[in-house]
Amino acid sequence: MNAMLAPVTTSIGKKALMGVTGVLLVLFVLGHMTGNLLIFAGRDAINEYARFLHEAGHGALIWVARLGLLALFVTHLALAILLKQENRKARPVRYVVEDTIQASWASRNMLLTGLVIFAFLAYHLAHFTLGLTDPDTFKGTYEPRGKENLEDVYQMVVRGFQQPLVASIYMLAQLTLCAHLWHGAGSWMQSLGLNRGKLRGASKLMGPVIALVVLAGNSLIVLACLLGIVNV
Ligand code: HEM
Repeated sequence: MNAMLAPVTTSIGKKALMGVTGVLLVLFVLGHMTGNLLIFAGRDAINEYARFLHEAGHGALIWVARLGLLALFVTHLALAILLKQENRKARPVRYVVEDTIQASWASRNMLLTGLVIFAFLAYHLAHFTLGLTDPDTFKGTYEPRGKENLEDVYQMVVRGFQQPLVASIYMLAQLTLCAHLWHGAGSWMQSLGLNRGKLRGASKLMGPVIALVVLAGNSLIVLACLLGIVNV
């Protein structure tokens, strides 16, 4: 029983679980970005993709994915807060000279950037999943030639990002996500003890590479809509 609880009762276990949930979240972010880039393939392409996601497994799969994602986000954040508290208890007085000269801004501010991403996620769900923040641009349907009605995710995204304030919120979130991934998308290898030997180099490069790919892909979508390169 003790061994089964180790992931949540020991520091090493918490770090490992943090690493596993982090990898799965990175995979989600990469997959989500790749799907969203279909906006450049046109209205039908992204709307067909959205329909596929919503109807997979008769609509059941999306709920499994949503609940799984929610569990991942909440576990990842809860562990981060617990580990931070444990670190504070272990070292109640901060060093006069910080021992973080080598550590980057990104690695020192993981909890802060994580909380900002969490806040963004709440806004993002209210915007694109629930249609609360911008009901005028929320989905709606249209009828592609020779096909049945499709939900119009394309126009929702394009008209959403055509508003400078909305585009700015998304761009700020992408910069914060970039900072978080810069450290986090590679540090899971250390948490899982995989940054040895030949893998050491890969673990150093992985974070910055993934962070920049995600920043470039997501920003491209926002900016292309804002600048009218992608239009309704
Ligand atoms: C420019 C960047 C992004 C765009 C264009 C975008 C677009 C979208 C759209 C259109 C939806 C609704 C899909 C539908 O209902 O058919 C959605 C849902 C969602 N997005 Fe994003 N997203 C972006 C960034 C992100 C980021 C960075 C995260 C995570 C950190 C994220 C997490 C989610 C989640 C969890 C959902 C809910 C999925 C569901 O329940 O159906 N998104 N996104």
